Amino acid sequence: MIRIAAVGDLHVAPEVAGTYRERLGALPEHADVLLVAGDLTRHGTVEEGKVAAAELRDLGVPVITVLGNHDHHSDAEDEITKVLEDAGITVLEGDGTVLDCGGTRLGVAGGKGFGGGFAGKCASDFGERPMKAFVEETKDFAGRLGAALLGLECDVRVCLTHYAPVPDTLAGEPPEIYPFLGSYLIAEAIDATDTDLAIHGHAHMGSEKGLTPGGVRVRNVALPVIQQAYAVYAMESERAAAR
Ligand SMILES: [Fe+2]
Ligand SMILES: [Fe+2]
Repeated sequence: MIRIAAVGDLHVAPEVAGTYRERLGALPEHADVLLVAGDLTRHGTVEEGKVAAAELRDLGVPVITVLGNHDHHSDAEDEITKVLEDAGITVLEGDGTVLDCGGTRLGVAGGKGFGGGFAGKCASDFGERPMKAFVEETKDFAGRLGAALLGLECDVRVCLTHYAPVPDTLAGEPPEIYPFLGSYLIAEAIDATDTDLAIHGHAHMGSEKGLTPGGVRVRNVALPVIQQAYAVYAMESERAAAR
């Protein structure tokens, strides 16, 4: 069994440095890995990125993160990625990684993702160039995500994004902004790849639990949603048991 701790939307800044880390002292007793679903910072500055790295470094379990839209706000996403990686944190963006958790291989693929909306109520790549670019951004991401999930040689396969793959976990948010909170294309990539769990953040007023159309468990782990330092999901592996 693998115990996956997950959280999103830490939104740290220098004035709150150290306060999130204080809540992680017992983490290795409760989890084998910590997944962070983006929006580590408030305004995406390198200074805030350094605070995030200090919160998440050397926790006693591997930490895998994606960036969120806030982490892009100052056009410093590459520097923030480097700061996090220098602290030993894995940053995914359209790629994946595999960890050995006590003999069970945990594969995690992911990235920030983007919006576009959900079946029947989504943007289409038609008309003005900015609208086509908006939809193309998500299509491109979903393609890379699907390939990354498929490429994981693992027993438990997890998708980690900032944007939501389904509308279920947005319940509580105004319906008018759903197209800016996620895309059904992320769920299509998940459902095409025998994925076991999908983790996301971004929807602070959303709900924790949902399902993709293919029946994969989706969890919105935004800090205001889970209202604890992290949620823990225990994953049994039929694939590991069959080996
Ligand atoms: Fe956020
Ligand atoms: Fe966000």
